[in-house]
Amino acid sequence: MSLLSDFIERHSAVVDRELDRLLKARAEEPARLRSAMRYSVLAGGKRLRPVLVFAAAEACGCPPGRVAGAAAALEMIHAYSLIHDDLPAMDDDDLRRGKPTNHKVFGEAMAILAGDGLLTYAFEVLSANAASRGLDGRSTCELIRSVSEAAGARGMVGGQAADIESEGLLSKRRPRRELSATLRYIHLHKTGSLITGSLAAGAILAKASRARRTALESYGRALGLAFQVADDILDVVGDKEKLGKKGSDRDNEKLTYVSLYGLEAARREARKLVAEAHRCLRPFGSGARVLHELADYVIERDH
Ligand code: IPE
Ligand code: IPE
Ligand code: MG
Ligand code: MG
Ligand code: MG
Repeated sequence: MSLLSDFIERHSAVVDRELDRLLKARAEEPARLRSAMRYSVLAGGKRLRPVLVFAAAEACGCPPGRVAGAAAALEMIHAYSLIHDDLPAMDDDDLRRGKPTNHKVFGEAMAILAGDGLLTYAFEVLSANAASRGLDGRSTCELIRSVSEAAGARGMVGGQAADIESEGLLSKRRPRRELSATLRYIHLHKTGSLITGSLAAGAILAKASRARRTALESYGRALGLAFQVADDILDVVGDKEKLGKKGSDRDNEKLTYVSLYGLEAARREARKLVAEAHRCLRPFGSGARVLHELADYVIERDH
């Protein structure tokens, strides 16, 4: 087994246990809301964001086990983003991680609320992890600030808004330069921000130097962009069974690397971005092997 698949397997198991524990039914909560939250979070998935939290902490000298709360928090934010992304008002998808989407099972209102519940709970869990690591007040505020920025209007939510506004833009004959800039903005934000935020969270909890955190964030931007370019490619050529989702970019007339540049150019761009991600890790010398392997994985993956 390769270093990366072993790391992913071990740390996915850690985060799965943590998520299961954190999302156990509590008497003071409506049972159906809790079921809707558990349904999407425990439905599997690649667990990339938690793996990045663990790998960033390890690269900065912190035992990965100490950041399990943050890893779970980032996966909760990701799961919320997927629940809302699939809603009829957004991408209108019926299948996610090989199962009916949250709103198909629990109805739209409960799906929206499950997303809200996961987003807010994530910050409770993140604060608890900061306390258990003995982080000082300043670093704790910085942890919460950086993850909120990554998740919010200047991050993922902003990217999602621009993604929705981009629907049908290709047929409106806008200048190509403008379309390229919009597409880059969308991908860096809707996907890149949470990926970068995961690395930042791992680095802050590891009490990493400013230089290491900055290097990890630059790596995250290149990795996040490459990851979404690969997602665009898989939406068109991927095996729906393996992906566990049907692919709706064409029906929704999305602006994607494939719709704007074509498959081959999208593949070239993804390879360039991965090379850039590797370069960003130079300050770690030989100490970031998992992160190097992850960079190759994001574009070689088939789901
Ligand atoms: C899907 O993310 C949404 C994007 C940001 C592309 P993932 O491809 O990481 O989905 P899961 O978590 O493995 O289901
Ligand atoms: C979604 O991008 C990114 C999110 C913030 C959830 P997509 O809409 O391309 O993700 P999929 O293809 O539905 O997973
Ligand atoms: Mg979408
Ligand atoms: Mg979608
Ligand atoms: Mg997609």
